[in-house]
Amino acid sequence: MDTNLQSDDIAKRIAELGPWFQNMRIGGVQTAPDHFLGDYPACKWEHFSSVVPDDLEGRSVLDIGCNAGFYAIEMKRRNAGRVVGIDTDPHYLRQASFAAEQAGTPLELHQMSVYDVGQLGEAFDLVLFMGVLYHLRHPLLALDLIYEHAARDQLLFQCLQRGSDQPADVAHEHPFSETEIFDDPDFPKLHFIEHSYSRDPTNWFFPNRGAVEAMLRSSGFEIEAHPELEVYLCRKGERPAFSDPPPLIAGPERR
Ligand SMILES: C[S@@+](CC[C@H](N)C(=O)[O-])C[C@H]1O[C@@H](n2cnc3c(N)ncnc32)[C@H](O)[C@@H]1O
Repeated sequence: MDTNLQSDDIAKRIAELGPWFQNMRIGGVQTAPDHFLGDYPACKWEHFSSVVPDDLEGRSVLDIGCNAGFYAIEMKRRNAGRVVGIDTDPHYLRQASFAAEQAGTPLELHQMSVYDVGQLGEAFDLVLFMGVLYHLRHPLLALDLIYEHAARDQLLFQCLQRGSDQPADVAHEHPFSETEIFDDPDFPKLHFIEHSYSRDPTNWFFPNRGAVEAMLRSSGFEIEAHPELEVYLCRKGERPAFSDPPPLIAGPERR
């Protein structure tokens, strides 16, 4: 395949591979110049790129829900070693493959759900889990599986939030008679969307800030940085003791 396309050919290929969610610049051509969030995700990345080391020194990265590869390619540009991108949608993986090839940053791409991360049989130094949680019907299961099978050290996480943007003051125990706390807007809440939000029926749960932070902690991730409202850099820590043990979905031997 010709990897040095002229800009007319690039524009043609971008059109063939569309529609794009991520606005990438490939050979100077934008993939989604009319994105409803602006120059997305570049405009998001600029608010939290400082929490990712400039030099990843060959660390391994897994980008879950990689879409067209924007973040995976950025990690490669920061000297990551092996970068694996997974996504359930083959349409986006074709875009990621083209974008990576044109950027000269090889990615290993798999059509795979977050629920199947155990099948990779590998834990990664840095896991990216950006903009996926609210698209899942089983968000805590996904976080538990990432903790159990995919994360060795750090997690870079983003989730759309709705409701209170204030942290919750979480008590370790609430008596049965406690009812008022549930009306506190800061109390951790997942807003369930039965039908569709923003014309997207894959939007299932929008947490408020308290819920995002509580779910990360509850899954064993310690929040180290919170560079903007939706983004967290976490480190894998101890999982709290559960009566309900973490799921152990069999995968190959871990590397
Ligand atoms: C809102 S986009 C976010 C893309 C990218 N991570 C970002 O932040 O720009 C959500 C992505 O998650 C993918 N996705 C949805 N459900 C998934 C699942 N169960 N496992 C892996 N990826 C999934 C979608 O195909 C889509 O590419």
